[in-house]
Amino acid sequence: MRILFVSSEVAPFAKTGGLGDVSAALPRALRAEGHDVLIVAPFYQRVRTPERRFERVLPETEVVLGGRSLRFSVVAARLPDSDVTVLFVDCPALYDRPGIYTQDPDEHLRFSLLGWAALKLCQYTQWAPDIVHCNDWQTSLLPLTLKTMFAWDRLFDRTRTVLTIHNIGHQGAFPSSVLPDTGLADAAHHLHQDQLRDGRINYLLTGILYANAITTVSPTYAREIQTTEHGVGMDGFLRARRSVLFGILNGIDDAEWNPARDGRVPFRYSRDDLSGKALCGQRLAETMKLPHRPGVPVIGIVSRLAWQKGFDLCFDVLPPLLARRDVQLVVLGSGEGRYEELFSRLARQFPRKVAFHKGFSEPLAHLIEAGSDMFLMPSRYEPCGLNQLYSLAYGTPPIVHRTGGLADTVHTWNPTTRKGNGFAFDHFDASGLAWALGYALETWGKPAEWRAMQYNGMSEDFSWKRRVGAYEDVYRGVL
Ligand code: ADP
Ligand code: GLC
Repeated sequence: MRILFVSSEVAPFAKTGGLGDVSAALPRALRAEGHDVLIVAPFYQRVRTPERRFERVLPETEVVLGGRSLRFSVVAARLPDSDVTVLFVDCPALYDRPGIYTQDPDEHLRFSLLGWAALKLCQYTQWAPDIVHCNDWQTSLLPLTLKTMFAWDRLFDRTRTVLTIHNIGHQGAFPSSVLPDTGLADAAHHLHQDQLRDGRINYLLTGILYANAITTVSPTYAREIQTTEHGVGMDGFLRARRSVLFGILNGIDDAEWNPARDGRVPFRYSRDDLSGKALCGQRLAETMKLPHRPGVPVIGIVSRLAWQKGFDLCFDVLPPLLARRDVQLVVLGSGEGRYEELFSRLARQFPRKVAFHKGFSEPLAHLIEAGSDMFLMPSRYEPCGLNQLYSLAYGTPPIVHRTGGLADTVHTWNPTTRKGNGFAFDHFDASGLAWALGYALETWGKPAEWRAMQYNGMSEDFSWKRRVGAYEDVYRGVL
């Protein structure tokens, strides 16, 4: 199949979270199955680093959106570890900015252009995709744009669209005054009319209404988003489309996240010999400037510090835990001020126990996965979550709230059956988290059990190779 994969993030070029990882790994896995895959993404300022080479593949073209002429060209680079090409839409007026996402007043325009440019470059190269795979709100106007504004072009006669929802908490909801900028003014009667009357345009909803199939990133999240509790207003629309809604768990990229081969950590290890993990623990302590105390468990966190991630529970639970128990905590992340302040404060209050690195660091993320003993991820909601998968693979049992993809992948340790790979609490409240942390620390005190639990997690196969067939089925189902 010819697959055009359109995304606002692609690792390693531009990534704020799991979307970037998936937008590299899934195309790579599809390519390995023999499909013809092209990725389209914006040429943000950060993509253009001195050591990267880009080839200009399209002369300057223009799209007129909202009466404004947007001139762009297209540059290409190879996705590392594969022969998949990434085509970057180079529109300096919209993308030559420090951030990936912005609060700028033209945010809607930045991503409506991405969809238009993706279709234009198919026309220019006469490359007819069988599937246009869209991701999240940023590319959610594409299905309707294709069905209306590009319907005249026979090139797309057989093209079908798939939308993957990575996070329903972000919908791209804008005032209806942006309509001309979407390039869909002539197709306005296809937009959701009640919303339009209320003065709103919702990008994600438009994708939900018009994509030929919808996927999301875990089976549990696929069920959750059909409920009023978790659907963030989209549940009714998703229920109406449930016959074409599929939950497919994300995989992990074995080239990037494998403790036996990871080039970003100082020592490598496997489930049969964890001595390298202990050495990584020592390096982690040195790096984070904490005393290295073998036997004392280190809890790791790597996360966007956002409401979604559930750190509100930590305000009540962590201070007494750190005061009473012999544990250490290493945190890597940035985001909302109140969470940054919480972890900074804990680091000041417990300098021998807590270290906080504010920022984004790929090497440190790997070192924390490898060098910590347990991994904390108390998300309020979690469509899939990749970090718990990385920690399972790295022998770092996760402590999670049982929601979304966390519910599908983390199973509480049961000493009787010796099954389980971590600790999951049911109710999103302080006592739930305190229970899970307490149970984890108690189990830490029983090394044979801990070892068995690590072994369970490290023996699971979370590779994309296992998942890619489910996407192929969705594609075949709409062709
Ligand atoms: P989300 O996409 O909601 O942020 P995921 O667990 O799916 O959650 O993916 C997060 C990805 O982003 C992982 O690859 C994780 O390692 C990475 N990540 C998050 N915060 C940081 C950070 N501060 N530094 C480095 N990597 C980070
Ligand atoms: C989103 C979700 C996360 C998921 C990632 C990749 O950012 O928050 O749970 O793993 O997308 O699909």
